[in-house]
Order: sequence, then structure tokens, then C-alpha cells
Amino acid sequence: MSETSPQTWQKLGKSDLRLSSVGLGLWPIAGISSLGVNDKDSLATIHAALDAGINHIDTAFSYGYDGEADRVLAQVLKQRRDEVVLASKVGQYFDSTRQRVIDGRPETLIQHAQQALERLATDHVDIMYLHLPDPQVPLQESAAAIVEIIRRGWARYAGVSNVDAQQLQDFHAVCPVAIVQPPFNMLQQDAVKVLRDYCLQNNIAMACYWVLMKGLLAGKMNRDHQFDPQDKRLTYPIYQEPQWSRTQDFLDLLRTLANQLDCTVAQLVIAWTLQQPGINVALCGAKRPEQILETAAAMRLQLDRETCVQIDHWIAKLADD
Ligand SMILES: NC(=O)c1ccc[n+]([C@@H]2O[C@H](COP(=O)([O-])OP(=O)(O)OC[C@H]3O[C@@H](n4cnc5c(N)ncnc54)[C@H](OP(=O)(O)O)[C@@H]3O)[C@@H](O)[C@H]2O)c1
Repeated sequence: MSETSPQTWQKLGKSDLRLSSVGLGLWPIAGISSLGVNDKDSLATIHAALDAGINHIDTAFSYGYDGEADRVLAQVLKQRRDEVVLASKVGQYFDSTRQRVIDGRPETLIQHAQQALERLATDHVDIMYLHLPDPQVPLQESAAAIVEIIRRGWARYAGVSNVDAQQLQDFHAVCPVAIVQPPFNMLQQDAVKVLRDYCLQNNIAMACYWVLMKGLLAGKMNRDHQFDPQDKRLTYPIYQEPQWSRTQDFLDLLRTLANQLDCTVAQLVIAWTLQQPGINVALCGAKRPEQILETAAAMRLQLDRETCVQIDHWIAKLADD
């Protein structure tokens, strides 16, 4: 593997947006599932991301019980709005009792888009996603609301997240989609597999979340890592046995390889992700500057074919075990 030329921001499908291949995701700074979050570190993290060449920031109404991530981001946008390709999402929020609500009704989506702009102290976002389909609302109706949000000038392009292939097609028929946002990482590839062909055929970009699987694939939590009992990651099966030990075996292979390649495991994982067909952006959460600086550096790493084949072989073996 070699360090290549500085990262180039990629053109997003048919749009005029150019996105860095690593995007900063603001879920951790919402402080809902991440421990030890504070505004000072969160602001420093966002500034560090921009300083490191990341230009894409991903937020949502539900990144906070009351838009907390947006309010922190607004402090940066006041100074650096023109440096950011800003994505937000509507369709999910927390109510006053802190219960998660999925609401894809057009009137709610439009109202929440307007409120997002107020929180973010900007007159538009670059991408507005439907966060997820609302099973109580026909998807076409939610899609039409995103069209209306764009018509009003509150967003430049549409995205949709957490859809399967049929839902993407239904949405795209009403509201042309510039970008989709599925989960994806080395060990969880299904959501991307079902969307890939349609996205490639229709020039729809993919920004993937959970590339680091909430930090596990950064490789720094060792086998006997002591989790804070409040740490919500413990609820994910991959953080529980038997998956935990199997993933640690896999991570040992990546740790050795990363060492040979003189990069970190997180950088290896992100670089591999960005070399998968159809994937344009790896969304990475962070709550401290050093985390996003490490992940941002992955934009300059190019893995050779042999390395990717080796990693693919380990992934396939893990899936077969
Ligand atoms: N569309 C959707 O439904 C959806 C769903 C989920 C996420 N997303 C988006 O995707 C983004 C990414 O997902 P995510 O933030 O949940 O998870 P993630 O990127 O997989 O993991 C983020 C966590 O990994 C750890 N981490 C990050 N960089 C690290 C580093 N260099 N070294 C060690 N640990 C590191 C940090 O956790 P600790 O410091 O706590 O260990 C951080 O909070 C979100 O922020 C959000 O923008 C979208």
C-alpha cells in the first residue's frame, strides 16, 4: 500500500456537489448513546474535521433529544458554512418523553425541515434525507414532501436512508435521489448489496454509516475491554459473545496487516470500504478531534489489489465459520 496524492472530493452523481470520501457523522456528539460528550470537544472535533479536508457533515433532527447536534454544528456553520456540504434528515425525532418517533407525514417532514434550518442557522442544507420509511405513511407521500422541501429552496438535493431496493425505486420515482445512506461495514454488507446495482445504474451515490461499527472496527478495544455499564454499544449483538470473540480474532488479522502497512486499523477499514464498488462516502462518527483526524487520514490511503483480496478472504472465512 502506498500513500497517494491528496484526496480528491468526488462529484456526487448528477449533482454539482463535491464530497470528501470521509464524512463526519454527528450522532456521537448528540450524547444520547455516547458517553462523555461535551460542547468544547464536539466543536473542536467539527473544526478538526474541516481542517483535515473533510467537507461533508451529516446531521439529523434525531441527533439529540432536541436537535443538540444541530445546535453545536450551527456554531461552526456561522463561521464556515461555505466549507460544508451539509446533510440533514427528517422523519425521525424524540418526543418530550424522549421516546423515538418515526413520522413520515408530509406536513411533519416540511415543518421539521424548516425547524432544522432555524437550528442550523442556515437558509438551506445541501442534502435532505428521509431518515427512514414510516410504515404508517405511503413512501411516495414522504418522497413528495422532500420534493416540496427542495422546491422551497430549503435543500438542494434529496437523499433517502434505510431503504431496501424496492423502496429506493419507489422513492426515486417520485423524488430523484442523489444519495442513499445504508449501514455498511466489513462484517455487515447486506444493506449495500441489495442497493448497489440500482445505485450504479442510476448514478445514485452511497454514503455508508457504521463503517467502524461504533468504534469496534477501529481496533482499539481489545478482547478484555471493560465497557461502562451505561455504554449502549453493549446492546448490539456484535458486542456480545460469541460474535465479540470472533470479531476480535478477525481484528487481530487486521491489526497485523495495518502494522505491516504502517497505518491504523481504522484507516485500513475505511480505505477498504471506500474501494468497494458503489460506495462514495464513509460516514464516521467522532466526539474528539484525534478520532476524526485518524479517520480523515484514510482518505489518502489506497490499498493494492492483493491487500483487498486478503481482507475479502478473511471476511468470507469469518462469515463461513
Ligand atoms: N441514517 C441512519 O439511520 C444512520 C444511523 C447511524 C448512523 N448514521 C450516521 O453515520 C455516522 C456514523 O455512525 P456512528 O457515529 O453511529 O458510528 P461509527 O462511525 O461506526 O462509530 C463512531 C464511534 O467510533 C469511535 N471512534 C471513531 N473514530 C475512532 C478512532 N479513530 N479510534 C477509535 N474509536 C473511534 C467513537 O466512539 P467512542 O469514542 O465512544 O469509543 C465514535 O463515537 C453517524 O454519526 C451518523 O451521521 C446514520
